[in-house]
Amino acid sequence: MHHRVKDRVALITGASSGIGEATALALAEAGAKVAIAARRGERLQALAGRLRELGQEPLVLVSDLLDEHEAQRIVADTEAHFGQLDILVNNAGVMYLEPVAEADLGRWRRMLELNVLSLIASSQAALAGMTKRRDGHIVNVASTAGRIANPNSAGYSASKFGVVGFSEALRREVYQHNIRVSVIEPGLVATELREHIGHAEVKKTINAWADSLRQLQPEDVAHAIVFCVSQPAHVNINEILMRPTDQER
Ligand SMILES: NC(=O)c1ccc[n+]([C@@H]2O[C@H](COP(=O)([O-])OP(=O)(O)OC[C@H]3O[C@@H](n4cnc5c(N)ncnc54)[C@H](OP(=O)(O)O)[C@@H]3O)[C@@H](O)[C@H]2O)c1
Repeated sequence: MHHRVKDRVALITGASSGIGEATALALAEAGAKVAIAARRGERLQALAGRLRELGQEPLVLVSDLLDEHEAQRIVADTEAHFGQLDILVNNAGVMYLEPVAEADLGRWRRMLELNVLSLIASSQAALAGMTKRRDGHIVNVASTAGRIANPNSAGYSASKFGVVGFSEALRREVYQHNIRVSVIEPGLVATELREHIGHAEVKKTINAWADSLRQLQPEDVAHAIVFCVSQPAHVNINEILMRPTDQER
């Protein structure tokens, strides 16, 4: 339990697995009321059971953020259910890695829509209430791929550089309203993210690399997010770039 997080209302997107799931648990453990969003309802229900064991009754939001109205809808539903939204964790994302020359642009378009445009839409939706109450925190999950670019990662990096740029511009627009914006940039984390890579060779290479080092665990990233949102009101952690100790780039 953390007194600065206790009873604050947090909405976590991409909460059905990986970093989002760990963040929902960590925020609930710190005393937050949580709304959990993703497409896989059964995974969210399983998480809801674990959150109830922590004494929190979560709001479960089954939602496909590729539907352009869903980002606004889940923010509105959270505000309607809990009365307000204090902490928005924009975590939902996909990573399609392949060389530009072979890229499936339809998939890349959906990656950019989810990783960037839906994050912009949920941030915009949260601003009205946060501005009115002069209180709020938006945490955007980017990546080391939003700070350095590598081959096979052009589309993903375009999305995550987009998140980093958006977050800093947003911070400078809203800081006078006492709204904080933090961006989290993890290196390799042991989650399901890599399972959706369509390019067999790239997938094999990155999985072999992941197996060769001690990856971050989702809980490590969740701890960084809790650290951001549990600071005193005058402290804004703008950015956390974190890698496995064993990761060079
Ligand atoms: N793993 C890493 O190495 C790493 C490193 C740096 C940054 N990140 C970032 O961390 C974030 C979380 O990823 P993760 O590693 O925890 O992977 P993950 O376990 O695959 O989680 C991705 C989450 O996004 C949700 N999602 C995917 N498509 C969606 C859609 N159309 N609508 C709504 N939700 C959707 C998934 O839920 P459903 O499938 O149930 O919808 C899932 O909960 C991502 O933004 C990723 O880019 C990951």
